[in-house]
Amino acid sequence: MCGIIGCVGHHDDTLDVVLDGLETLEYRGYDSAGVALVDDSIDVQKKQGRLEALRTEIAKRDVTPTGDVGIGHTRWSTHGPPTDANAHPHTDEAGQVAVVHNGIIENYQSLRDELEAEGVTFTSDTDTEVIPHLFAAYLETDLSTELAFHRTLERIDGSYAIAAVVAGDDRIFATRNDSPLVLGIGENQYYLASDVPAFLEYTRDVVYLDDGDVAIIDADGWDVTDGDGESVDKEVSTVTWSAEQTGKSGYEHYMLKEINEQPTALRQGLSGRLDELAGDITVEELDDVGFPETVHFVACGTSYHAALYGVELFREVGVPAQAFLASEYATGPAPIPEDGLIVGVTQSGETADTLSALREAQGRGAKTLALTNVVGSTAARECDHALYIRSGPEIGVAATKTFSSQLTALNLLAETIADNTRGSRDLVLALRDVPSDIQQVLDETTAEAIVDEYVDNESFFFIGRGLHFPVALEGALKFKEITYEHAEGFASGELKHGPLALVTSNTPVFAIVTGNDERARKTIGNVKEVEARDAPVIAVTDGQSDVERYADHVLEIPETHQRTAPMLANVQLQLVAYHMANQLGRSIDKPRNLAKSVTVE
Ligand code: F6R
Repeated sequence: MCGIIGCVGHHDDTLDVVLDGLETLEYRGYDSAGVALVDDSIDVQKKQGRLEALRTEIAKRDVTPTGDVGIGHTRWSTHGPPTDANAHPHTDEAGQVAVVHNGIIENYQSLRDELEAEGVTFTSDTDTEVIPHLFAAYLETDLSTELAFHRTLERIDGSYAIAAVVAGDDRIFATRNDSPLVLGIGENQYYLASDVPAFLEYTRDVVYLDDGDVAIIDADGWDVTDGDGESVDKEVSTVTWSAEQTGKSGYEHYMLKEINEQPTALRQGLSGRLDELAGDITVEELDDVGFPETVHFVACGTSYHAALYGVELFREVGVPAQAFLASEYATGPAPIPEDGLIVGVTQSGETADTLSALREAQGRGAKTLALTNVVGSTAARECDHALYIRSGPEIGVAATKTFSSQLTALNLLAETIADNTRGSRDLVLALRDVPSDIQQVLDETTAEAIVDEYVDNESFFFIGRGLHFPVALEGALKFKEITYEHAEGFASGELKHGPLALVTSNTPVFAIVTGNDERARKTIGNVKEVEARDAPVIAVTDGQSDVERYADHVLEIPETHQRTAPMLANVQLQLVAYHMANQLGRSIDKPRNLAKSVTVE
């Protein structure tokens, strides 16, 4: 995710404007931060850790950075661990150009090879660093600064928001592609940021940039052109948020914000890893993982549900796999396969139970892989391999976007390990479309109206079969965690083996049914069983079967691949949990008794 801020025009203290802006953006990334202030030269200060560490570092200096032009960045690592050197801004060798960047430059390796062959020395592990070197190289030619910036942009592929400054120049050059960037329009003071709150103290007038827009701001104004330098008409709008809402970008809760961030999170997780034309999946980090005899997943809570989904995928691609609750793994009788791969699924990379299961496996000679969101986390550092899900920071205690990113990454993992070239094109296309399918669910959901009818109920069931079973478990976990109402998830076929005794007209049942195959038909049979006991049924469906006939309500999802359907169904269930908890006035972002990262066994 990462956060960008930039400002031009006279301020009493430009450095303060940039640092305060970064503070409001810290939720976007907090493993390192940096600033660059421009005068005749560029003064860069950056530091690993939270923003406070950067402030302390600056306070130690005899002369603080000054200038009327400033950019800043708060980082959430994707390429290279969180270190001072990898923090943004990045500069060219002469320090004439400084750049901050969100997103991923997909062709950075070939650009880096080319620049290194020309004798350029890199000082970080980041993909970003190619940008200032390229920009500086074009500035060395006869091109104007604007054209040099355009030429630089023509060379890079990927998803990005970029802000760049040049020594002795009082402008900021910026652009975006698949990553947010917005201009703030003041009076002889202009701003840009990845999110409005960063400059809300100074202006409420904003211009939202679109993909491909190139913006230049200076103390006299702002200008937006397209990639060819042709002027683009942009509308200035006025935001109405209050300052208190800002950290949540206008959402009432982080959880709702993070549910809505899923299209972006998934785009980031897939960026550079799918080849739509060839139908290939390529994940750099997995180059030397090899083909394991068997896979054991170890995980807790939501991540365990993702692991259960992963098991099905590995079995589909021909690798025997099992999922274990991490807290049961090391101490239980499970034989740890020495020639197997042990995959720790852990958003935070710090969960004590998962770390201890991974350590036990490593101690017994097994190879380990961390599937995690946090670059440089303990799991990522200690495991033999790490696969990053690239969700961006998740603040709400209830995991939402990271679960979706885990399911996506598990598809990448299974296909890469199996080197599955046959029949994977459909999957690649479905994965490519998941972000927009999720957006459709978010735009069209009727979850809020449906839960209104059930606020007085105290027990809720969630059922699903096959790949929908982990989502039924996850739907129930999310629901109980934030509503404090009783909720259980079941494999649809298990209801009749006991839980059916609890089913009455007071137990709404959420049933996930997609497609119209044997599994769907069997789940519809289970739906009829609960309907016969007068239980209200809410079907989460793509409309391919006739489950609607037996349901009181329907939560629709777009038709998609059977691997991606669970991701869409899950978003509906996240919204069900959220709206019910909101109706009940629960503490949604910090549910009672729970913590985000559980570092005790
Ligand atoms: C539930 C939730 C927890 C975590 C679990 C594992 O919403 O967030 O169940 O999934 O504590 O955490 P990680 O994935 O960080 O290991």
